[in-house]
Amino acid sequence: MNYRHAYHAGNHADVFKHLVLTRLIALMSRKEQPFAYLDTHAGLGLYDLRGDEASRTGEWLEGIGRLWGRQDLPDLAADYLRILGKMNPDGELRYYPGSPELARRLARQQDRVLLNEKHPQDGQLLKENMKRDPRVSVHLGEGWHVPRALLPVAEKRALMLIDPPFEQLDELKRCTQALKESISRMRQTVAAIWYPIKDDARQMTRFYNDLTSTGAPKLLRVELLVHPLETPQSLNGSGLAIANPPWGLEEELRELLPWLAEVLGQTKGSWRMDWLIAE
Ligand SMILES: C[S@@+](CC[C@H](N)C(=O)[O-])C[C@H]1O[C@@H](n2cnc3c(N)ncnc32)[C@H](O)[C@@H]1O
Repeated sequence: MNYRHAYHAGNHADVFKHLVLTRLIALMSRKEQPFAYLDTHAGLGLYDLRGDEASRTGEWLEGIGRLWGRQDLPDLAADYLRILGKMNPDGELRYYPGSPELARRLARQQDRVLLNEKHPQDGQLLKENMKRDPRVSVHLGEGWHVPRALLPVAEKRALMLIDPPFEQLDELKRCTQALKESISRMRQTVAAIWYPIKDDARQMTRFYNDLTSTGAPKLLRVELLVHPLETPQSLNGSGLAIANPPWGLEEELRELLPWLAEVLGQTKGSWRMDWLIAE
């Protein structure tokens, strides 16, 4: 396990993933009924953009750095940026929330936040960063076991983020397996798989085909590129495959993504969204 998210915190892929996550939570919060948020690969929860790791790559400068201080922010980014504002009260961008911190801050009194991180040191930091919030529990285990260990949840409503480091070649396959397992254990699970997009058409086609056979009732594919696919880069962009997205998400993202592609595009930004499994 060599991957450390601290090097990449706040980059374009994080901004895209975290903005969509805040909308998923907001839309799920329209109903009073509680939900459980599950994070299979949670990371540290909190990052210091001026720290050694983030400073070494500077990736956040082309991510959250491009949104910070802008005056033309869409309303749909308000939850995300309000949290960032609270974490950086003097107006200088330094602290960045990972998915656990965003979920913890947006969860209501009746919701639960169930986090899993395998790296022992990162897991310990995650525990400390979650500030003994009684709604949060942190497991230091195997992320791929989360669907089996935690689904179905008592709340009967679950939002799961599947966000592995993609260090191993089989991780796309494991993502689709985890989704399949989640759907078979709790059909209505809202599950979002984050995945990197690089210039590897064959691998992506296999992944999309696998996604269509997960048994998810509905599956939305959302992608944001910061470089065109034909330009070889270490990361051209990223995607989210979202099973059972809450009603209204597609419409919201149609509004948000053109703006995001414009703001985050490097050689050229673009986006797409379609249904891999339609109802
Ligand atoms: C991309 S990061 C997660 C970022 C986080 N979800 C966020 O958005 O802020 C992936 C994390 O998975 C952890 N990890 C790697 N292999 C794992 C495994 N098999 N089970 C659980 N966690 C794992 C890494 O230590 C790393 O912190």
